[in-house]
Amino acid sequence: MKNILLPNGLEVSEIALGAMMFGSTTSKQEAYEVLDMYMDMGGNFLDTSNNYAHWAGTGDESETLLGEWLRDRGCRDRVVLATKVGFDRHGKGAGLKKEQIEYWIDESLRKLGTDYIDLYYAHTDDPDTPIEETMETFDRLVQKGKVRALGTSNFDTWRVAEANCLANAKGFTPYSVMQQRLSYLNPKFGVAPAYAFNEVVGRERLRFLCDKNMPLVSYACLCKGAYEDPSRLPAEYEGGERLQFIRERAAEKGVNPSALVIAWLINLYRLGNFPRIIPLFSATPEQLRQNLNGLELTLTEDELREMNQIGCR
Ligand SMILES: NC(=O)c1ccc[n+]([C@@H]2O[C@H](COP(=O)([O-])OP(=O)(O)OC[C@H]3O[C@@H](n4cnc5c(N)ncnc54)[C@H](OP(=O)(O)O)[C@@H]3O)[C@@H](O)[C@H]2O)c1
Repeated sequence: MKNILLPNGLEVSEIALGAMMFGSTTSKQEAYEVLDMYMDMGGNFLDTSNNYAHWAGTGDESETLLGEWLRDRGCRDRVVLATKVGFDRHGKGAGLKKEQIEYWIDESLRKLGTDYIDLYYAHTDDPDTPIEETMETFDRLVQKGKVRALGTSNFDTWRVAEANCLANAKGFTPYSVMQQRLSYLNPKFGVAPAYAFNEVVGRERLRFLCDKNMPLVSYACLCKGAYEDPSRLPAEYEGGERLQFIRERAAEKGVNPSALVIAWLINLYRLGNFPRIIPLFSATPEQLRQNLNGLELTLTEDELREMNQIGCR
C-alpha cells in the first residue's frame, strides 16, 4: 500500500480501515486479526467514532478496543488515528457545542489510550450551535496538541465553506478532510438516503473538493458487500447496468468486484476533475486480503472514463 501526503500534512495509507463494529458485532479476536493484517500490508489510517457502535452496544466499544490494540502492539506512532464527535448515542447528545466537544475529546483520548488524535471529525452538522463556537473550540484542541487536523462528515458543502471562511477570518484551524459516502453505484434519482445526513457524493461536492484541494475519505464505499452479493444492495442505490458492468469487468481482471471499486476510487484523481479519494471500508481478514488486490490493478485514463460513463447515458 502506498502512502499519500495530504495537504494538511498527515501522511496516510491509500486505504482507510473502518473500526465501526469492532468490539460489538466484530469480536476482539477478529478485530485484532484484521488490524494486524492491515498494518502488515502497509495500512496506517484507522477510522472510529465516539459513538461506535451504540446501536449494537454502548457506543464505547470501538474506541476501547482500538485503545487496547494500540497498547498491546505499541504502535500508536505508526498509526493515523481518526475519530469523531457530534452524533447521538442512544438518541441523545448529538451536537457540536463547546461543552460537548470538550467532554468527548477527553473521553476519546481516554478510551483510545493516547494524548492526541490525528484527525478529528465533526461527525455531522449542528445547525443549532453557532459555527464560531464550534470552530473556536476545535481550534483550541489543536493549539493544546490534543488534535492535529480537523475534518467534516455529513455536512452540506455550503456549511463547510461557511465554517472554513470563518476559520480563515478568525485564524482558527479549518476543516481539511471530508468524509462522505461514495461508491461506484449511483444513488437512485430523487430518493433520499435512509438517514438525511447520509448523502452520497454528487458532482457539486466533487467540484467543491477539487476547488478546495480537500481529500475525500469515502465511507461505505463497498455498499455493504453488494458488489459480491447484489441481494445486499442498499435500497437507495441503482444497481442495473453499473452493477453488472463492475462484476463482469472485475471477473475479466481476475479480482473480486469490491477490489475493482477500490481501484477506481483510488485512481479517479488522475482524471484531474476528481479530488484525491481514500476508500474507507470494514472487512474480515479474508475480505481485506481480496479487496487489496485492487491496489495491484492498472487502470488507464480511458478505462476510468469508460467506467464513469456506464449507466449514465
Ligand atoms: N461518517 C459516517 O457517517 C460513517 C457512516 C458509516 C460508516 N463509516 C465508516 O466507514 C466504515 C465502513 O462502513 P461500512 O462497513 O458500512 O462500509 P461498506 O464499505 O459499505 O461495507 C463494508 C462491508 O462490506 C462487506 N464486504 C467487504 N469486502 C467484501 C468482500 N470482499 N466480499 C464480500 N463482502 C465484503 C462486509 O460485510 P460483512 O461483514 O457483512 O460480510 C463489510 O463489513 C465504518 O467502519 C466506519 O468507520 C462512517
